[in-house]
Amino acid sequence: MSSPPYAAIRGWGMAVPRRVVTNAELARQIDTSDEWIRSRTGISQRHVAGPDEFTSVLATAAGREALERAGVAKTAVDTVIVATCTPDRPFPATASTVQHNLGLPNAGAFDLAAACSGFVYGLSVGTGLVKSGMSRTLLLIAADVFTHLIDWQDRNTCVLFGDGAGAVVLQATTQPQGVLASNIGSWGEGETMMAVDVGGTRQPATPALLEQRRQYVYMHGREIFKHAVRGMCESAERAVADAGLNLAAIKLVVPHQANLRIIEAVAKRLALPMERFFVNLDRYGNTSAASVPIALYEAAQQGHLVAGDLVLLTAFGGGLTWGSCVVRWGSALPQ
Ligand SMILES: CC(C)(COP(=O)(O)OP(=O)(O)OC[C@H]1O[C@@H](n2cnc3c(N)ncnc32)[C@H](O)[C@@H]1OP(=O)(O)O)[C@@H](O)C(=O)NCCC(=O)NCCS
Repeated sequence: MSSPPYAAIRGWGMAVPRRVVTNAELARQIDTSDEWIRSRTGISQRHVAGPDEFTSVLATAAGREALERAGVAKTAVDTVIVATCTPDRPFPATASTVQHNLGLPNAGAFDLAAACSGFVYGLSVGTGLVKSGMSRTLLLIAADVFTHLIDWQDRNTCVLFGDGAGAVVLQATTQPQGVLASNIGSWGEGETMMAVDVGGTRQPATPALLEQRRQYVYMHGREIFKHAVRGMCESAERAVADAGLNLAAIKLVVPHQANLRIIEAVAKRLALPMERFFVNLDRYGNTSAASVPIALYEAAQQGHLVAGDLVLLTAFGGGLTWGSCVVRWGSALPQ
């Protein structure tokens, strides 16, 4: 049998932790203010995971909802990808835990690490697996408990992030749906623009390094800002051109939700009105890999997407990494 040329998005799900932390609450703990956070980032609140809400827990909840919405049999799922930079454990993959939790006996499972670009990377890779014929029904989950990497005493980073998970089901189809064109990119020279230095094989955690709080993320915010705008714009323009389209054909842009000012700068550079951009970072903050699928989920649930619509997903993250996908929205017909 020849491989089907498309991978339709058939189901979607999301999950966030129970606890909401407002800007006002942070301002009681560190030297910041609701006004500073809102005006510099657009963020009002974020969900923060409790001890029982680790990455596989959120990923499993989002994956379960996506599978139920898609209406696919558990035995039909042949691949599980979890895009995360905050796995349950250094080893083995969180995707294996999720495969077990969801009871998917016929699925291979692996993690994908591309920081905040994880979902866009996963959608590109997952679509490739389906198009090649290697997978027919694939569960892609992007999940991060990024607050695990946060130093709550560091106001430069702690106000920006939240936790969550988003998921989609990809299914092989001959209909022209799902990802029409995509690209992924990386600039490894920028690896220390945003990083956690301690806890890996390069610098294992020692009591002295933990004492210096080196297990937490640090970031050069202004430089990241500039690279984010350029990376997302260039990759978005290329994906749209590779799909044989122009930007005017795009109904909705679902960008990585890091900072409202970054999204506004992308809109300006692409000469698109802000109404074309879906934004929900005010309620979630930057949920790392989960931000694009959580935004896509809310855009779909709020009725912003109907079958046939063209959606542009674009993201940027640590690595540095970036990527974009042009998606034709719509469910695959059963085959
Ligand atoms: C981090 C970011 C919000 C900072 O905004 P900015 O306008 O660039 O702010 P600046 O870096 O110029 O800092 C301005 C001042 O605010 C201070 N500041 C930083 N965080 C603060 C906070 N939470 N509350 C109050 N003041 C804060 C800084 O210390 C600095 O003070 P100084 O001038 O006395 O040194 C912004 O650069 C950004 O969003 N960058 C991208 C980060 C990102 O999205 N990373 C994830 C990528 S996936």
